[in-house]
Amino acid sequence: MRIIRTIAELREAVKAAKQDRRSVGLVPTMGAFHEGHLSLMREARAHNDLVVVSLFVNPTQFGPNEDLSRYPRDEARDAALAEGEGVDILFAPEPAEIYPDGFATTIHISGITDVLDGASRGAHHFDGVATVVAKLLGIVAPDVAYFGQKDAQQVLVVRRLVRDLNLDVQIVACPIVREPDGLAMSSRNVYLDPAARQQATALNRALEAAAEAVEQGERDGAAIEDAARRILDDAGIVPEYLELRTADDLQPVTRLDGEALLAVAAHVGAARLIDNRLLRVSA
Ligand code: PAF
Repeated sequence: MRIIRTIAELREAVKAAKQDRRSVGLVPTMGAFHEGHLSLMREARAHNDLVVVSLFVNPTQFGPNEDLSRYPRDEARDAALAEGEGVDILFAPEPAEIYPDGFATTIHISGITDVLDGASRGAHHFDGVATVVAKLLGIVAPDVAYFGQKDAQQVLVVRRLVRDLNLDVQIVACPIVREPDGLAMSSRNVYLDPAARQQATALNRALEAAAEAVEQGERDGAAIEDAARRILDDAGIVPEYLELRTADDLQPVTRLDGEALLAVAAHVGAARLIDNRLLRVSA
């Protein structure tokens, strides 16, 4: 596996692959790899000739009071894990390579970024995500790019970016990978002390309770949210948001009909965690 730090060198490597008509898969990441990241790499490895993983803790998607400075970083460990998954190139640029002096462009996607994490974390968050993902797609020009469904709103934002800017790339969303007790894997789980780690299992249990209510025939949006909220209450968790929204454009759902996304964000101990579940009923 090559570790590449410059855009020019990466472009050369990808150009050579494309000249040989080799397909290119990209897994954009911020590092601190866990099984969720590795599942994206495996998916990319299974379907592409050249697999590029980007490792860049993107400063522009963090707010001033968020965890940019303490975000877990261990490039040597990440490189070993990526190599173990058969990744060809780890693209690990310095911030100045991505945002050189005079950088002045921001991509803003309206509508779907006004709610959930966009409302909670502020507009800068998805502006930062959309801008860096657009840059990575422009730099690597992959045939396919892989994202985790845990960041369900991010997947929608990236799909909208690709659609609106006519980018020639397929976006694949891979399933959430969970710990044996149901906690969604996240780089931020390292912030949890043992008590908070235990408390955090309530997020998935809340989503499961909502799914169970739907299975029992509940279709009222507020009642479905309440089924989840009760589990969070019992665990002493006050969600930042817990909302049932349409799966494609994140509109509020008053009555479940078809597919909807139940999304939750909460501070648990020292971590801000998100999780979600798609709820489906046949019409
Ligand atoms: O999901 C992430 O790790 C980041 O938001 C991404 C897509 C790599 C952009 O910085």
